[in-house]
Amino acid sequence: MARLTPAELKLLDPYTLMAILGKKVIRPGGRVSTETIFRMAEFRTGQNVLDIGCGVGETAIEIASRFGCRVTAVDIDNLMLEYARNNIRRVGLADRVTLKQGDIQALPFADGAFDTITIEAVSMFTRDQQTSIQEVVRVCRPGGYVFDHEFVWVRQPPADLRLVFDSMVCPGMSFETEDEWRELYGATGQKDIRAVPVPFDLLTPRGMLRDEGVTGTVAFIGRAMSRWVYITRMLWLIRVLVKVSPYLGSVVIASAKPNDASPPAYQREQRDGDGV
Ligand SMILES: C[S@@+](CC[C@H](N)C(=O)[O-])C[C@H]1O[C@@H](n2cnc3c(N)ncnc32)[C@H](O)[C@@H]1O
Repeated sequence: MARLTPAELKLLDPYTLMAILGKKVIRPGGRVSTETIFRMAEFRTGQNVLDIGCGVGETAIEIASRFGCRVTAVDIDNLMLEYARNNIRRVGLADRVTLKQGDIQALPFADGAFDTITIEAVSMFTRDQQTSIQEVVRVCRPGGYVFDHEFVWVRQPPADLRLVFDSMVCPGMSFETEDEWRELYGATGQKDIRAVPVPFDLLTPRGMLRDEGVTGTVAFIGRAMSRWVYITRMLWLIRVLVKVSPYLGSVVIASAKPNDASPPAYQREQRDGDGV
């Protein structure tokens, strides 16, 4: 992969920088939120799954390798797709995970093409979230599930902190509360909407060790220390995240596309008192 100049690196989104530094799990709830999705989704061998905003391909790889699904992984960013391609090739899953460049706001797929759709930390980057979610629901088959994991404010931060977060951490990123994510899905006609809160754990020592393991964490720190521009950007990002973390949370929003069949498994579990 081409070595970017300091000027180019300064313009990168923090998540692209994390990918360059070798981080595989780039979402607020880390592997905890992904396992929450896996428990609710009840993937089955041969299902057609779409992972939108796949980043470096980690979740797509897990869905294909652990559950035997056919996965299509989409990302808008060619650099992310390049990392994903290398990771998928390295684990020998190129026949089960298909990569495609695409925008969640205009997905290059037919109506009802997928049984289950996963989205982790992506919808919040789009300008018109209602359009993005309508588009996701369009490509889900009737009776299929959508699982979306996104940031939420659990309480409002002070105005100056919110301004720094909104304008400098990931300019253009926008999210509010759990209820607002539920409403966005409700407005598309999705049913059985269920929100599962997950603690924010991105770049915390606990989150790093859990998500990347000891070797991955040491490798990440080693790379982050290898260039001055990495050190300054990562230290700045961690400082802002530490300040904002008391106000931040994340959520998995599960929903089902209506058909006339029985309620989804994750709702039956809830009714039986056997929550995720
Ligand atoms: C925070 S990263 C999450 C990556 C991955 N889902 C994960 O959890 O590790 C956000 C990802 O969404 C992608 N993305 C941003 N806007 C997008 C859009 N409009 N359509 C598709 N992907 C998008 C970014 O390129 C990036 O890979």
